[in-house]
Amino acid sequence: MDVMDAIRTRRSIRRYKAGEIPDDDIIKILDAARWAPSGGNRQPLTYVYVKDPQVLRMVKNCSPGFYGDAYSAIVIGAQGRLGYIELLDAGFAAENILLAAHSLGIGSCAIASFNRDAIKKILNAPEDWEPILLISLGYPDGTPRPPPRKPLSEVVYINSFGNRWERLGG
Ligand SMILES: Cc1cc2nc3c(=O)[nH]c(=O)nc-3n(C[C@H](O)[C@H](O)[C@H](O)COP(=O)(O)O)c2cc1C
Repeated sequence: MDVMDAIRTRRSIRRYKAGEIPDDDIIKILDAARWAPSGGNRQPLTYVYVKDPQVLRMVKNCSPGFYGDAYSAIVIGAQGRLGYIELLDAGFAAENILLAAHSLGIGSCAIASFNRDAIKKILNAPEDWEPILLISLGYPDGTPRPPPRKPLSEVVYINSFGNRWERLGG
């Protein structure tokens, strides 16, 4: 799948079909995360892949934003105080995960609505490790309609703030 196609057709999946995701595909997806850009190439992120159904259920139970019967989930986190760079790194890594999964026919959804302390306990994480984002994974049960995006003319300026770019119309 072409990168632009992947970007345009990826959707947040909140309904999943039953079906096991091969570990090899998950490893490809995690490798895509590993290759994401990282501020100063510090690579502060660690990932916990949750596929044990009991652990997954506990993760889901403390995550109000987690919808659907996902096959598994990835928890992205970092050691130490979460600063700007860690959060940006997690965003880049997450997008690589979402796009890599989509390119393999696997649905996903980024989830920021979860209980941090509960997730740390469930995962047996060290005290100074903070979860940043969860990503649910599974085979999509249907393709959601794309939620609308603001037009480019509304979000892009040229050369100075507030200066509309005529080529974008609007
Ligand atoms: C930082 C972040 C946090 C999100 N948290 C949640 C969440 O907790 N639960 C959820 O169902 N979707 C969550 N989403 C998914 C967004 O709702 C979704 O990306 C947006 O509605 C656009 O839809 P699309 O991804 O299908 O294009 C999150 C997305 C981002 C980037």
